[in-house]
Amino acid sequence: MTEAQVILETRDLSRHFGGLKAVDGVNLQIYQGELHSIIGPNGAGKTTLFNLLSSTLKPTRGRVFFKGRDITHLPPYRMAHLGIGRSYQITNIFPSLTVFENVRVAVQALGKHNFNPLTPIEQFQEYREQALEALELTGLTHVAAVPALALSHGDKRKLELAILLAQNPELLLLDEPTSGLAGEDVPEFMQLIERIHRQGQKTTVLVEHNMNVVMSLSDRITVMHQGQILAVGTPQEISQNPEVQKAYLGEMYAGIEQAGPGGEMA
Ligand SMILES: Nc1ncnc2c1ncn2[C@@H]1O[C@H](COP(=O)(O)OP(=O)(O)OP(=O)(O)O)[C@@H](O)[C@H]1O
Ligand SMILES: [Mg+2]
Repeated sequence: MTEAQVILETRDLSRHFGGLKAVDGVNLQIYQGELHSIIGPNGAGKTTLFNLLSSTLKPTRGRVFFKGRDITHLPPYRMAHLGIGRSYQITNIFPSLTVFENVRVAVQALGKHNFNPLTPIEQFQEYREQALEALELTGLTHVAAVPALALSHGDKRKLELAILLAQNPELLLLDEPTSGLAGEDVPEFMQLIERIHRQGQKTTVLVEHNMNVVMSLSDRITVMHQGQILAVGTPQEISQNPEVQKAYLGEMYAGIEQAGPGGEMA
């Protein structure tokens, strides 16, 4: 990736909570089209960084740029309109609405005509089609008419993804999308994320603890440690980076089978 275009960039991004430097002087560059994972132990600052990127938290210091535009102080609701999609928590699903309705509401909320009573009928047809497409992509078509509350945990996770996709974001921010999934469901779910990423020519930033997943899917990886960036590189570079190995081998590579040099020490 020599001439890669930067879609998202942070400069000196910092968020302190009292004396705690949760994110501290982070300079991150995300390239257009890449699948970029952010890893680091519990408390490293990954979620805080995501909150800053999606503007749900304001930085103590520093800036965020999306496609060259300073978005640091934009309100969070503007993010979806700009093309930045952050995964919703399960609690944001409307339990009594059907799977289809949940997705359609998300599409409509972002639509130009919103809830204007004079909205032309064709517009609703378009919302419907976008929603059906998102269900198809996430493999939820067969449960479209089911109330969201009746879904299995894995399907709820897919529904979150469908809601996100229905808004057709250019940049996906996914914070531990597999958390809570049964171990045997993780590979299928990650394949889905990869498919969405590649087919949709999207840029994806992923926080994920499963090292096998991270190593096999990522174009590049950023390692965070105590609020700062410890290393950035390809999976191979990261797994062979002596500093990363020194800081994390015991903790982060536990369970990884192809960790590379030293991985077996975990
Ligand atoms: N609102 C807050 N107020 C005070 N401290 C906070 C707040 N949010 C996060 N922190 C602290 O900031 C640090 C970074 O937390 P963060 O949630 O970003 O870590 P993380 O890398 O996402 O961890 P995990 O892997 O467990 O999800 C932690 O020490 C956490 O306790
Ligand atoms: Mg977190």
